Amino acid sequence: MEMQKRILLHKRPEGMPGHEHFKLEDGPIPSIKHNQVLVRTIYVSVDPYMRGRMEDTKSYVPPFKLGEVIDGGIVGKVVSSTSTRFSEGDYVTGHLGWQEYNAADEHNLRKIDPDSAPLTAYLGTLGMPGLTAYFGMTKIGLPKEGETAVVSGAAGAVGMIAGQIAKLHGARVIGIAGTDEKTRYLTETAGFDKAVNYKTEKNLHQSLKEACPEGIDVYFDNTGGTISEAVYPLMNDFGRIPQCGAISSYNKSGDDYGPRIHPFIVKSRLRVQGFIVSDYADEFQTGAQKLGTWLQEGRLVYEETINEGFDSIPDAFLGLFEGKNLGKQLIKVSDE
Ligand SMILES: NC(=O)c1ccc[n+]([C@@H]2O[C@H](COP(=O)([O-])OP(=O)(O)OC[C@H]3O[C@@H](n4cnc5c(N)ncnc54)[C@H](OP(=O)(O)O)[C@@H]3O)[C@@H](O)[C@H]2O)c1
Repeated sequence: MEMQKRILLHKRPEGMPGHEHFKLEDGPIPSIKHNQVLVRTIYVSVDPYMRGRMEDTKSYVPPFKLGEVIDGGIVGKVVSSTSTRFSEGDYVTGHLGWQEYNAADEHNLRKIDPDSAPLTAYLGTLGMPGLTAYFGMTKIGLPKEGETAVVSGAAGAVGMIAGQIAKLHGARVIGIAGTDEKTRYLTETAGFDKAVNYKTEKNLHQSLKEACPEGIDVYFDNTGGTISEAVYPLMNDFGRIPQCGAISSYNKSGDDYGPRIHPFIVKSRLRVQGFIVSDYADEFQTGAQKLGTWLQEGRLVYEETINEGFDSIPDAFLGLFEGKNLGKQLIKVSDE
């Protein structure tokens, strides 16, 4: 029997997860049944929402099961197939296990074209994070010419695209991120008007006030927490807040007393709307086409942080909560 590496959820974390919550082991390479495809993993995506799936709580996606292989976004190559829709050599993406090979049902895979975009883009700007930025900004944020948009988590996979989309709609865009390298990337490469390092600014609220002399109309929030506390008082009347994520609270255990934002929601008549990218599943094709066109026209840029080797998947995942990534965090497991 041919063997492969795979990663299981070993323990459920309380607070910050660590390597002890994962188990790397060898298991058999699965055989495929009727209408299935054997996929060799090339790139694995790690995403902050996976932290929620490590806990046994009810959410919009079921928790990972203890002792079972963790799953997430993967790009791979078909090595054998009993499906009429996929042939050996096709590149595919899908929601598959953290293992070197997956036996996947044909309806769980999508064929991708390596000539239209780099394979990695299908897990980033042309995949789930890009679509999240697109729908959050165009359906809820609704930035307009001359308005000011602020993005937290701005140098991440979602944030850097969200900010550029606001810019494409004519807004002035300010990013908030956690290192000077990231703030430099945002202003020098991604076209943000300004970027603020929330870890080194002594008074984030004051810095944002100076960066946004006309107040804030759109706040694309990836972080929540004290960053949002600094932003809310600067919101203009009838401002819009796509609540995309709240990464500042994902690893909190016990009581987590949040910022007092409610008076500002009332006073400034803010529209705060949480959303999950899958709410817009019916429009994914339109969103992906739009993002693809912007990329081809050079109106959208993106960055990736790619770790090497299957064993480094947990490290790359844990690094998301320390801000180790610029742009989309991926792991390269095998050659394209
Ligand atoms: N609603 C949806 O459907 C949807 C879909 C995808 C993602 N999301 C959410 O969108 C957010 C961004 O996701 P992503 O995939 O683009 O991840 P990402 O931004 O590429 O990576 C996470 C980044 O978050 C920042 N961060 C980590 N801990 C933080 C903390 N305590 N306070 C403030 N910032 C912190 C770090 O950057 P710094 O160096 O700047 O700290 C880190 O690089 C997450 O909250 C995620 O859950 C939502």
